[in-house]
Amino acid sequence: MERSRKVKVKILRGKVFQEYTVEAEEGMSVMDLLERIYDELDNTLAFFRHEACHQEACGKCLVKVNGRVCLACGREVKEDELCLEPYNDRVIRDLVCEVR
Ligand code: FES
Repeated sequence: MERSRKVKVKILRGKVFQEYTVEAEEGMSVMDLLERIYDELDNTLAFFRHEACHQEACGKCLVKVNGRVCLACGREVKEDELCLEPYNDRVIRDLVCEVR
């Protein structure tokens, strides 16, 4: 049986952080969490989503998680609180950045 817990997620959107509380299962990635937020809580959230990849291959889902840049699809959610920010300062919208 999968164990789930509530995770508090703060996401930098423009100049302000927006908070969400999300039900997360064991082994869930940051990408899974973002997709859950988009599908169930807020479909205005912008982030890189690549259904065909989702396995650390394309390298495009970079995001800053608790201050460290990583691939959202390869970063497991182990914390009860997450802070997500764009990985560079050339932000198009929310967590989507222009690639340098
Ligand atoms: S979706 Fe391709 S590396 Fe994450």
